[in-house]
Amino acid sequence: MEWIKVKNLEHAGKLVASQIEALVKQKNIVLGLATGSSPIPVYDYLIKSDIDFSNSISINLDEYVGLNQQDPQSYYYFMHQHLFQFKPFKKSYIPDGSNLNAEEVIHEYEEILKQYPIDIQLLGIGRNGHIGFNEPGTPFNSRTHKIALADSTIEANQRFFTNKESVPRFAYTMGLANIMQAKQIFLIACGKSKSPAIKALIEGDITTDLPASILQTHPNVTLYIDDGAASLLNQV
Ligand code: GLP
Repeated sequence: MEWIKVKNLEHAGKLVASQIEALVKQKNIVLGLATGSSPIPVYDYLIKSDIDFSNSISINLDEYVGLNQQDPQSYYYFMHQHLFQFKPFKKSYIPDGSNLNAEEVIHEYEEILKQYPIDIQLLGIGRNGHIGFNEPGTPFNSRTHKIALADSTIEANQRFFTNKESVPRFAYTMGLANIMQAKQIFLIACGKSKSPAIKALIEGDITTDLPASILQTHPNVTLYIDDGAASLLNQV
């Protein structure tokens, strides 16, 4: 696991977007996408570039259960706003949050993931070390599933909603085994609130208490972290 020190999210976005651009120039890719504030600058840079995704596929990590595509808090809406309306892909996949039949959603998503192996997976990280919505305790061999959000995640994400009560309690998410199948992974983390998770990720044990720690065993992961996120590391 390699890590690169960045000035801020904007700097991380520039570096990650240029890596994506370089690969798309060589071939049509399958790009694993993430939501949250961390990847937004990546999308801003991709929008400004002359990159063409019209022959590439995107697959998002997760979606809230119970939100439809028109809901401004849904990840579908987020992706449309921040990327797809400007840079459409040949096909973009996001779990269908409006379908409450979890078995069906999971089956469909697994078929998609089987059909399109991910070249690059973009990740943020939750304060509790979750990736996608794989909360602490999620088994490393997990595949797409429905998960109850941790209290700390509901609290962290309530800033996007009118109040805590309106944050969905469940999400559909790719599992940790799905994420680990990506050929290359870029994880972006900036700010002090991420420092305990980043310390545990870089210096801690591989444990389901910190789901992201499984990334230590992936052959091609790059972390983009700023001073704040790196502030608890032994070696900065
Ligand atoms: C959500 C998403 C994660 C994301 C995390 C951190 O919980 N499901 O994929 O990494 O938030 O978000 P942010 O980048 O806003 O800190």
